[in-house]
Amino acid sequence: MSQFGRYPTTRLRRLRQHHQIRALIRETELNPTDFVLPLFIRHGTHVKKPIQAMPGHYQYSVDCLAQEIKDIAALGIKHVMLFGIPDTKDSLGQAAYQETGVIQSAISLIKSIAPQMLVITDLCFCEYTDHGHCGVITEPPHPFAIENDKTLALLAKQAISHAASGADIIAPSGMMDGMIHAIRHALDTAHFHDIPLLSYAVKYASSLYGPFREAAEGAPQSHDRRSHQMDPANQSEAIRECALDIAEGADMLMVKPAHTYLDIIAQVKKTYPYLPLAAYHTSGEYAMVKAAASKGWVDEKETALEILTGIRRAGADFIITYFAKDAVKWLS
Ligand code: PBG
Ligand code: ZN
Repeated sequence: MSQFGRYPTTRLRRLRQHHQIRALIRETELNPTDFVLPLFIRHGTHVKKPIQAMPGHYQYSVDCLAQEIKDIAALGIKHVMLFGIPDTKDSLGQAAYQETGVIQSAISLIKSIAPQMLVITDLCFCEYTDHGHCGVITEPPHPFAIENDKTLALLAKQAISHAASGADIIAPSGMMDGMIHAIRHALDTAHFHDIPLLSYAVKYASSLYGPFREAAEGAPQSHDRRSHQMDPANQSEAIRECALDIAEGADMLMVKPAHTYLDIIAQVKKTYPYLPLAAYHTSGEYAMVKAAASKGWVDEKETALEILTGIRRAGADFIITYFAKDAVKWLS
C-alpha cells in the first residue's frame, strides 16, 4: 500500500511548528474593524455609573458620553451600538421616540464629536415601557400577551425618530413578526431608504442576557420573553426566521447569543452567504470570561481572543461585543 499522503511521508506538524508558517496559512483573522461596541446612555447629567456584572462598562449620561467617544475613537473603535435608559417609562414606551430622547441626543453628540463613527441603534421597547416588555401589552382582564401588530406601528415611529436623529444602521431586536417589513416600509415612506436594517433575526430566549438587564434596566416586571424569543433547542427554526426577515427587507442578519450558538452562525452563513452576518457576544458571555479571569482561572486576553476567533470562524462577519475596546487594543 502506498505511503504517499500518509505518515511518515505526510506530517501535518510540518505546517504548525513554525510561527511564520502558522501565520501564513491562518484561515481566520481578527481585525480591529470586526467589532461593534455597545454603549448604554442614560438620562440625567454627570452620570458615569459602573455596571456591576460587566466590569469596564458604564451607563453614561449624554454629557459624560463626550469623553468616552473621544477615547474610543482614538483607540480605533469604528462602530458603536446604542441602548437608552430614559427618565420616564410608561405603558407604551413613548420616551423611545421623543426628539429630545436619550438615544436621539446621544446620536447628535456622537456625530458632532466623531462624525466618522458608525452609529447602530438597538430598536425595541423593553427599556422604555414601565412593564419592561418589548411592545404593547394587553390590559386586564385579558390574559397577558404582547400585542404584535400594535407594536409594529410604534416600532416604525421609533425607527423614524432614530433615522431623523442621524442613526446609520437600525437594529430591531424585539423579534416581533413582521417588524422588518413594517420598519422598512415606514423608513422608505419617510425617505430614509438609505438606512440599512440589521435584524436580530435569530435571538434566543437566553439566560446569558442577565447582566444586560442591569445595564439597560429593561427587565420584564412579570412573565418573560419566551413568547417571541426562540427556544435554545431549535436550529432549523433559525433558518425560517432568516428567510422571513430577508423577504421583508433585512439588509443584515444577526445571531444572538454567539458562543453557545456557533452551529447556528455556521448554518445561517452557509444558507445565506450573500447577507452580512453579525453575532452578538452577549453580556453573560462577557461576564463569564471576566469573572473567571479575575480569579486567575483563565487568561483573559487569550480566552477572549479565542472565543472571538471562534465566532468569526463559524461565519460571523462582525461581532457586537463588550470586549471591543480590549480586542482593538490587543490587536493593534
Ligand atoms: C433588547 C435587548 C436585549 C439584549 C440586546 N437587546 C435583552 C433582551 O432581549 O432581554 C441583550 C444583550 C446582552 O445581553 O448583551 N432590547
Ligand atoms: Zn426588547
